[in-house]
Amino acid sequence: MAYLQTDVTKVTTNVLKNMKLHGEKIAMLTAYDYSMATLLDSTKIDVILVGDSAANVMEGYQTTLPITLDEMILYASSVVRAVKRALVVVDMPFGTYQGNSKLALSSAIRIMKETGADAIKLEGGQEVLESITRILSAGIPVMGHLGLTPQSINKFGTYVVRATEADEAERLIRDAHILDEAGCFSLVLEKIPAKLAQQVTSEISIPTIGIGAGSGVDGQVLVLQDMLGITQQFKPRYLRTYGTFGEDIVNAVKNYISDVKSVNFPNEKEQY
Ligand code: KIV
Repeated sequence: MAYLQTDVTKVTTNVLKNMKLHGEKIAMLTAYDYSMATLLDSTKIDVILVGDSAANVMEGYQTTLPITLDEMILYASSVVRAVKRALVVVDMPFGTYQGNSKLALSSAIRIMKETGADAIKLEGGQEVLESITRILSAGIPVMGHLGLTPQSINKFGTYVVRATEADEAERLIRDAHILDEAGCFSLVLEKIPAKLAQQVTSEISIPTIGIGAGSGVDGQVLVLQDMLGITQQFKPRYLRTYGTFGEDIVNAVKNYISDVKSVNFPNEKEQY
């Protein structure tokens, strides 16, 4: 299949809108550092998300709540230095946009100025509309995020599938329209029934990007360490792994240790 965007030298929000119009799926993965982002960008991936999942993957926290704006800026600027082509989106961390649209705008401006990223992402619908509108008014592209919103984990107490009941599904559909009409350029749908995700995707004009939301969305996103098989003991139903890099790293390090201990490394050619 000829992909629409292979000739694109820089993926923009408009490229994503065109991909939805032409039915070409959007591929998005997370990255938090220069080395991984360099590899990802070489593959012509469409979007790189500097997710606040860095709190779990990079920092070992149980939730995404503790990560700070300064930490997100450090990860994001490392990624941006590596990326020439993909659209780079940065998560606004918990506490930097909820309930205060002026704070939201200043947090978003810090991200854009100090990292050079292309867009920000934040979680929620109606309840964060004022923040979204203010950020958009400064010309900063916003990606929405509905369904399982990990920053609200303490409200729900569990990471189970969201919007399985009619009232929650109706609220999600309403919120998706609100984000579309407000001017968000795309919307992440996390861990909701596939049928609902498909309905939202057909009703709104902006591209939807799913994680645990079935195939009827406009694109998919996974956390890089999860899909590479690096994350241990995290096997949700929606996750497909594309490698056993966790095992591979452990084996490589064991071989290195063995070579060092047995003075098999370095050999004649590996010294001066
Ligand atoms: O933080 C993150 O990695 C995310 C994705 C899972 C969508 O928000």
